[in-house]
Amino acid sequence: MVPQRPDIEVLITEDEIALRIAGLAQEIAAGDPGDVLVVVILKGSFVFAADLLRALERVGVSPQVDFLTLASYGESATSSGKVKLIQDMSENVAGRRLLLVDDILDSGQTLVFARDALRERGAAEIKTCVLLDKNEGRQVAMEADYVGFEIGNRFVIGYGLDFAHRFRGLPYIGVLNED
Ligand code: IMP
Ligand code: MG
Repeated sequence: MVPQRPDIEVLITEDEIALRIAGLAQEIAAGDPGDVLVVVILKGSFVFAADLLRALERVGVSPQVDFLTLASYGESATSSGKVKLIQDMSENVAGRRLLLVDDILDSGQTLVFARDALRERGAAEIKTCVLLDKNEGRQVAMEADYVGFEIGNRFVIGYGLDFAHRFRGLPYIGVLNED
């Protein structure tokens, strides 16, 4: 347990996250992922991906892993709407089955950008998995194949998610209290 903080309201606890990730791993395994390459979209999803990958191994799914760094937010709490490739992955995706992993699906721009780029490089199949889905925020058509939790339109932090590069290490998902 980490100390409770007066400035943060806990929205999803550590235990709830762990339980849901075990469930997500089972759903992914049931979809018969085969020789899948997990593509982790950095930075926000590094904590989620670390737990998801270990949950996948526990249900007998042993993927390859690569990383792609994208950015759309800068240091504000609202998306600039423009996604930039900051650092590319190193694996060749042509003919591969991919599972794109992101922390949160909001406007949809980030996942659409990643999906389209990898499709253009000849990926054979692209599935998507997000821990959080803010479906009220959608600006482009995009639904993830695997969703951890649906949440309302609030800016959340913790478990990899940041506000201006802070709070990524919190083990739960929370909301910053005003003032
Ligand atoms: P989208 O491109 O608008 O779908 O947003 C996806 C990206 O925006 C995610 O990968 C996050 O990095 C970031 N993001 C969206 N909502 C939040 C939030 O509530 N807290 C922190 N980051 C967020
Ligand atoms: Mg992100």
